[in-house]
Amino acid sequence: MASRGYILLQISLLLTVATTAFSLSPYYYKNICPEALPTIKKLVGAAVYKERRMGASLLRLHFHDCFVNGCDASILLDPAPNIDSEKNAAANQNSARGFEVIDQIKAEVDKVCGHPVVSCADILAVAARDSVVALGGPSWKVQLGRRDSTTASRTQANLDLPSPFMDLPALINNFKKQGLNQRDLVALSGGHTIGFAQCFTFRNRIYNATNIDPAFAKERRVTCPPTGENTNLAPLDPTPAFFDTAYFNNLVKQRGLLISDQELFNGGSTDNLVKSYSLYPEAFWKDFAKSMIKMGNIKPLTGNQGQIRVNCRKVNY
Ligand code: HEM
Ligand SMILES: *[C@@H]1O[C@H](CO)[C@@H](O)[C@H](O)[C@H]1NC(C)=O
Repeated sequence: MASRGYILLQISLLLTVATTAFSLSPYYYKNICPEALPTIKKLVGAAVYKERRMGASLLRLHFHDCFVNGCDASILLDPAPNIDSEKNAAANQNSARGFEVIDQIKAEVDKVCGHPVVSCADILAVAARDSVVALGGPSWKVQLGRRDSTTASRTQANLDLPSPFMDLPALINNFKKQGLNQRDLVALSGGHTIGFAQCFTFRNRIYNATNIDPAFAKERRVTCPPTGENTNLAPLDPTPAFFDTAYFNNLVKQRGLLISDQELFNGGSTDNLVKSYSLYPEAFWKDFAKSMIKMGNIKPLTGNQGQIRVNCRKVNY
């Protein structure tokens, strides 16, 4: 019996080695540039100190990067003759922000490292983690060693980034295409514990929905009229500058801002998980960190694939 257990252990170790041979590692920059991670942390801290919302914006950038052909910094490429910039996709245009902070981090990191050795894709992943930490959330070891794409796809971004008008089955399917399950969907949607949304993204809900707390709808209508004022902001939860569980507490009270938020607690298969995150902050923290690592592992470029960009906005030629 003991020897059979031992053989099984050997097999599982072999499988682990075989599947991790070309994958990412938290220690990727340990020898290449030990100052890289502390530098990113310092600059994210400064950016968030200057404007708390920047933490939310940086977290979202990593998400929008990973969901479009993997975490390869494709979202950072500016329009160019061969680049159909993802910045012009519906979910990003006049919405995604934080690009200047990423530029600044890249410049500073390349300076401390002495050469451009840290990829823009890794900077996005580390900046997302450091943002969550700066706003009081959980920490995790970021897997590293991603390389940067030489292409971008606005078309793919329009196909793959979820819309705030999706119902639960559509959201589940959208995440499933990325290899993410319902638990990942609920945990990662907890990213909406920080940051803001524009009026046009939640207008229909606050005027037409029946699964909404009337007092909350009334409150939100004040700064989001039936027409116009499309870009007016509302917080995604009552404490948009703190990474807490208010987002889930709110869903349980039918105070979700986006249709896609309230869908997670609307009588379906994810209700119980929402309720448990609202009751047990530690469970949310643990699962959020786990799902962020999983999301960060979506289709990375490694080895000699892609490149390490010098300027995150442009492909090196
Ligand atoms: C589940 C599907 C999701 C949908 C439909 C969705 C949709 C949206 C929308 C419509 C906004 C407001 C954008 C604007 O008005 O300009 C937003 C903001 C935001 N989203 Fe999501 N999101 C989803 C999942 C996620 C995930 C997985 C994360 C991160 C883990 C995330 C992080 C954020 C953050 C932090 C903001 C605020 C950004 C800021 O204030 O600059 N979202 N999201
Ligand atoms: C409410 O729903 C109706 C019918 O779908 C639609 O015509 C109207 O524009 C919606 N109102 C708002 C403010 O979104």
